[in-house]
Amino acid sequence: MRYKSKRYTWYYIFLIIKLFTLLTISSFSNDLISGYYFSEKSTQEIQNDDFTNPGFIWVELGKKIWNQGNNKNKNLSCYSCHGNISEMKGVSLSFPKVRGDKSKLINLEQQINICKAENMKGESFKPEDKNLLALATAITYQSRGLKQNIEINKKNKPWFEMGKKLYFKKIGQMGLACNQCHDERVGMNLRAEKVSQGHINGFPTYMLRWSKVASVHKRIQFCNEQARALPFKIFSDEYNALQLYLTWRGKGLQIETPAVRK
Ligand code: HEC
Ligand code: HEC
Repeated sequence: MRYKSKRYTWYYIFLIIKLFTLLTISSFSNDLISGYYFSEKSTQEIQNDDFTNPGFIWVELGKKIWNQGNNKNKNLSCYSCHGNISEMKGVSLSFPKVRGDKSKLINLEQQINICKAENMKGESFKPEDKNLLALATAITYQSRGLKQNIEINKKNKPWFEMGKKLYFKKIGQMGLACNQCHDERVGMNLRAEKVSQGHINGFPTYMLRWSKVASVHKRIQFCNEQARALPFKIFSDEYNALQLYLTWRGKGLQIETPAVRK
């Protein structure tokens, strides 16, 4: 009899643990949770205060370039055509988008480059150029507090499908897909970091490890490298498709740009 009751005790303990993990996993998969909540407290504190958040150096630089221009033609700035940068409120939410009647998907940084090269007849910025990221950060910051609300329509549907496929595709030496970390391992520790749901509502994000702001594409490259998979290029169709899928996947999350991450 004693033997039996002991066995039951273990059975109950097992059940409780099982129930608990099921509950936590399901609560994670049902709700959208910003990466902020998976960050260490010390990192959250830097983000909480706009004065300590180094991302604001990028916001300020971006505003400066917006108004003064960054061009050979000193008389022409972003302001000349678009007015005050506050006019950009909500604009970042519609990116990545299919440009005009062209079938190419572009993100905000590429739109800025198009304005630079075509509308300002200047030179476009290199990927991850500080000035480019500063403009993208300052523009996205205008939407801070708004919710991600991208629509999937006839135009961007093929890109959405491509992004979704890439998100679930097992790649690299370890054969890992995005979802295996950002859906299945949410909350677990990986190299002293808690795996989040992999949302992009804080991007461009200030990365403490690099002491600079990084784009969504740069972050995905880093995930690819860490999972020993060959990264695509920044501004590639593949990363834009993934970015579109991630934007849709986080629909309803508030923009936190500039967020702070490890
Ligand atoms: C081996 C596990 C792993 C895989 C596979 C992986 N990531 Fe990540 N990812 C991480 C870790 C760890 C972090 C840093 C902690 C965090 O924010 O989740 C991260 C961070 C991110 C972030 C930033 C989240 C934030 O709030 O700042 C995004 C976006 C992201 N990953 C997207 C992707 C995409 C897209 C893929 C597939 C191409 C991918 N990841 C594949 C582990 C992974
Ligand atoms: C000569 C006028 C002109 C200048 C200068 C200019 N733009 Fe534009 N911008 C446009 C036009 C026209 C569009 C419409 C779409 C297009 O041409 O790609 C646009 C679109 C945009 C959009 C997308 C708006 C939306 O609602 O989707 C952003 C963001 C943007 N520009 C940023 C910038 C930035 C940053 C600069 C300065 C580096 C700049 N623009 C300079 C004319 C200009």
